[in-house]
Amino acid sequence: MYRLLRALLFRLDPELAHELALGGLRAIRPILKLLASRRASEGKIRAFGMDFPDHMGLAAGMDKDGLLGSLWAAFGFGFVEVGTITPRPQPGNPKPRLFRIPEREAIINRMGFNSAGVEVVRRNLLRDPKVVPVGINAGKNRDTPNDQAHEDYLHVIGRLYDLGDYFVINVSSPNTVGLRDLQRGDNLRRLLGEIYRWRRGRPRKPFLLKLAPEIEGEALQEVARMCEMNDIDGVILTNTLKVEGGGLSGRPLFGISTERISQWRSLSDIPVIGVGGIFSRADSLEKLRRGATLTQVLTGFVYRGWEIFR
Ligand SMILES: Cc1cc2nc3c(=O)[nH]c(=O)nc-3n(C[C@H](O)[C@H](O)[C@H](O)COP(=O)(O)O)c2cc1C
Repeated sequence: MYRLLRALLFRLDPELAHELALGGLRAIRPILKLLASRRASEGKIRAFGMDFPDHMGLAAGMDKDGLLGSLWAAFGFGFVEVGTITPRPQPGNPKPRLFRIPEREAIINRMGFNSAGVEVVRRNLLRDPKVVPVGINAGKNRDTPNDQAHEDYLHVIGRLYDLGDYFVINVSSPNTVGLRDLQRGDNLRRLLGEIYRWRRGRPRKPFLLKLAPEIEGEALQEVARMCEMNDIDGVILTNTLKVEGGGLSGRPLFGISTERISQWRSLSDIPVIGVGGIFSRADSLEKLRRGATLTQVLTGFVYRGWEIFR
């Protein structure tokens, strides 16, 4: 069934296919609601102080503006990460900016945080009841300098604090100039310190840091130390790999992103959500075996649809 749909969608420009698919899914929201609600009570996996019906979730980037929110559970996802969301709306990079590489089962994207902005996402998320945990993936606007980045992250998180079950500081997209500098040294220290102060006195919810696959060795060790000092609850390993033209995802990312899980586990007890190149339940279980607590999928869902849950 998905193969048929894919044959149609893959004839179209990738971003147009994505928009049409989202539009189609929005049109059948009542059906998705019905399917998704069946999963609501199936809490089987305990992580980050919550129950998840499945350890496989939808990664950030598929539903940047929360158009379907937790209704993605209808396909089998145990949780959904919405975003990346910026405080103010921004268009992202010029098109074309999304490319399939079918022979490698990969995607290259240079979307550049196209976002409807936090206020629109808030309205979208309020539309449907929440049936599985929802993560809020926060970013900064393109024109916000790195020394003020914490204000953007905290603005997004603050506006959605009542709606999200966990919050992600995305410092690892390769398509926003300078963003990945926030993963290191004084930039990261300042960012995590500001977040730590903001969280004091608020109801406790999990905060996770999403990292690039290029962060390894001593750099990863430094991140682990700072996460521990600043009470970060988890890390998401990994974002896309920087290549010419944007960020690479899918099959070629599986090895390196899974390797990062093992490396992290040797450095820290902070739990990991493993993401990168999952195309089946077996791939997902391999990430759990290497030490991840939960996993996420994006490119595998584009290529395989709901068959990834088999
Ligand atoms: C088209 C596209 C858009 C993405 N947008 C985001 C994003 O906005 N924020 C983010 O944290 N990750 C984003 N990602 C990265 C994914 O969340 C994920 O980390 C990466 O693609 C690896 O997983 P995969 O191989 O299953 O796709 C995006 C990936 C793709 C392919």
